[in-house]
This record gives sequence, structure tokens and C-alpha cells, in this order.
Amino acid sequence: MTAGPEPGHANQLELGLGAPRLAIEPEWKDQPRLWGHSMHPMCSYLASFPAALAHAFVERYSRPGDVVLDPFSGRGTAPLEAVVSGRIGVGNDLNPFAHLLTAAKLDPPTQAEARTRATALRLAFAAGAPGWLDRARALQQDPLASAEVRVPAEVALAFHERTFAQLLFLQASLDLATPVDRFIAAAIAGILHGKTPSYLSTLMPNTFSMAPRYVRDFAQRTAFQSPDRDAFDRLEAKLTRLFRDPPPRTTGIALLGDARDAGARASLALRTRRLPERARLVLTSPPYLRVLKYGYYNWLRAWFLGFDSKAIDASLDDAHRRAPYLDFLREVLRDLRPALTEDGIAVLVIGDVATDRGRPAADGHGLAEQVWEAAAQPEGYRLAGIADDDVHAHRKVTKLWGREAGRATQVDRMLVLTTSEAGRRRAVSAASLPVDWTWPPRRLRSI
Ligand SMILES: C[S@@+](CC[C@H](N)C(=O)[O-])C[C@H]1O[C@@H](n2cnc3c(N)ncnc32)[C@H](O)[C@@H]1O
Repeated sequence: MTAGPEPGHANQLELGLGAPRLAIEPEWKDQPRLWGHSMHPMCSYLASFPAALAHAFVERYSRPGDVVLDPFSGRGTAPLEAVVSGRIGVGNDLNPFAHLLTAAKLDPPTQAEARTRATALRLAFAAGAPGWLDRARALQQDPLASAEVRVPAEVALAFHERTFAQLLFLQASLDLATPVDRFIAAAIAGILHGKTPSYLSTLMPNTFSMAPRYVRDFAQRTAFQSPDRDAFDRLEAKLTRLFRDPPPRTTGIALLGDARDAGARASLALRTRRLPERARLVLTSPPYLRVLKYGYYNWLRAWFLGFDSKAIDASLDDAHRRAPYLDFLREVLRDLRPALTEDGIAVLVIGDVATDRGRPAADGHGLAEQVWEAAAQPEGYRLAGIADDDVHAHRKVTKLWGREAGRATQVDRMLVLTTSEAGRRRAVSAASLPVDWTWPPRRLRSI
């Protein structure tokens, strides 16, 4: 076990104004950017938190065998970290893209299964390649050419004709209801676009899809030609990276649905599997209080996976103003209470906008305190403390805001809640326990 910094370490998180003191040692900031299991970076996801942050809270606030629940699981960072650490990880998200990524990580195939399936897909494509190539060329010339396949013009122009033919084949062949195909689909989503040779299209960065109109204009202006990238070769290389660490063996459950009843659904799913029904730790990052459209900013991945990006944005709660946001979180917290153990702890990592264009942001600032006062306290929670984490503050989101970046200061605030005095004491005393950062952990090495 590596010792944590001395108490009073200069890095110790600042405390929320007026909130009880809770000295959380932010050791995750000292870890390499990609610290953790090789499946964490399967696919880029906006506003995901680092695996090291999840690790620190899972280690300090739960024990092996405990249930760790994330009702807004995104790409599955918290539940994957939980199962890597021998806990039962439960992730829930209303976004089908997030659910796919979480499920792929919590119920992965073996490496042999994934490789066998990838080879079978490669051979099946080769057998029908001329037909798929004809279809790809026709769609690239006229995206509305085919009556069976409708492809947005921006999708067709993003890829080399061979890559596009392979993607059309993969899209038609993968069955997302089976774990091995879901894993392969998630892996392909992870390499769909980006600027290095690992990716299938170089039209866009890896983090998010540029606006479709911008993409069309850019492609026209620069006479864009995507390089010839073999989807099966890149998939093999991606599988090698994903299976660098053995898949965790502990059970994980991925749920698709609204966070407002995620606690009840999680307990039911756990009971059905004869597992402990209540979570000792809820570790989550609720949606941002600013417009963050997961469908729109992932339209190319959504196309490949067969999801409707507009429908995703219409269903999610990522664009609320403050008052409805607080009502929303109050409902989420009400549902979570009975799903927590007697001494359970809920850590909410809340994206706050500290200042916007140099002025304190009217809507965002002090959001964590407002969540405590308007959503958690009225539901009978106790406050162990609030802390600021201004270092990791979602860089990707700041990047997305383009010209606004640098003007809007981001800060993540951690609201640590409990439902009993025993939980509050546990939250305070375990906040600065030393964390074992050895990688890979013994639990994985012994597999
Ligand atoms: C800040 S992100 C969570 C990221 C996650 N911690 C990770 O590491 O990937 C917030 C998530 O809330 C989800 N979301 C938005 N509204 C929701 C709702 N009503 N119920 C469940 N999930 C929702 C979004 O799809 C998004 O994945």
C-alpha cells in the first residue's frame, strides 16, 4: 500500500463555504492520466470522471463485496472501478449510448470470444466485399441512393470507401443484445473518429463529433479524403489495448433508465440475482447544468450504433435551468435513500460553473450547496462535507465550449451525503485513508 500525503497536505481539497469541514485527500490528481483498468478508455465520453477519482472513493467508502451504484453512469467509470476492486458495480443511465458502454465493460466477453467473433466478421465481410463496396460507393455519391439504407451525407463523407463498406457491414451484422457483439460495437465506437492512425476517420477529434454543417463545409473547403483504414485491423489493435488487463470477475449490472427510479430498479435487479440489495456507496456525477447534448455531440457514433441522436437529447436531463434541476435531483435522492445501507454514503461530483466571462455565474455557482439545501436536506440526508476539485475539472467540456473556454471557469464540487450519523462518521473518518494505487492490483494479477 502506498502511503497518502500527510494530513494537511497542500493539495487537500478546499472546503465549500459554510459546509462542514471534510478533508478529502485528492490523491487521484497525482496519478497518471490513464491510471486504471485498460477497459476504462474504451470510448471517449463527455464529462466522464477519471478512473483514479472513482478508485479513491470506492477504496475509502466501500469494502470488497459491497454494492457500489452510479445512477448516472455515463461510460461506466464508477461501476467498472467497483468491479475491478471486488465490489458489485451497478451502473444506470438513460442514454442508450452510455448504457451500451457501461454494459460492455460490466459484462465483457473473454478475449478469446472477442477475437473469434472479430475474425468471423472479417471473413464474412471478405466473402461479400464487392457488394458492400458497391453499396458504399453508391451512398457516397448519393446518400439517398439506396431505399434500404438511409445515411446522412456527413456520415458518408467521413470515411474512405473501403472503411465505409466495412462499417455498413458491421452495422448490419452486429447484434447489440449479445455481450460479445455489444463489446465489439462499443470498441468500434471508440475508434470511429480521431486524429491518430488508430482511428477509422480523421475528419473529427476523438472526444466529440463536430457539428454536421461544420463537417460538410470543412470537407468541401479542404477537399477532405479520409485515409484508407481497415476496420478489422484497427479493431484487432483496439482489442489488444482493451484486453491489456484481464476482465474483472466480480458481478456488474448495467441498467437502462431514468435516474429518478434507479435506486428501486437497482435493488430489484440485485435481489433477482440474490445479491445484497442495498448500496454502501453511491458514486455519481449528475448531468451538467449547462446544455450538454450527448446525442448531438455523438451523432456519428449514434449513427453507427443505430441510435437516434435527437431522441437521446430529447430524453436526457442535461439542459436544465437551476430550479427544475434541483427538483430533478431531489427526486433522484428520494429514490436513492432506501437503496442505501444504514451507514451508506452518497458522493455527488457536481460540475459547477464558478465564473462565466469573469463574473460569478448566476446559475451555476454554489450549485453543490444548493443541491444540499434544496434537494438533499429536505429528503433527510446528512451532510458530511463539500469539497472543491478544480484541477481535473472536465477539460473535454471546456474544450467543447470553444471560445467560451477560459472565460467559463469549471470546478467540480464533491457533495458527500449520508443517511445516518454512523454514515456521517464513516464518511469523515475514511475521507483521508491512504489509498493503494498499485497497478495492476493483486486481485487482477492473480487471475
Ligand atoms: C456527467 S455524465 C456522467 C459521466 C460518468 N460519471 C462517467 O464517468 O462517464 C451525466 C450522465 O447523466 C445521464 N443522464 C442525463 N439525464 C438522465 C436521467 N434522467 N436519468 C439517467 N441518466 C441521465 C447522461 O446520459 C450522462 O451520461
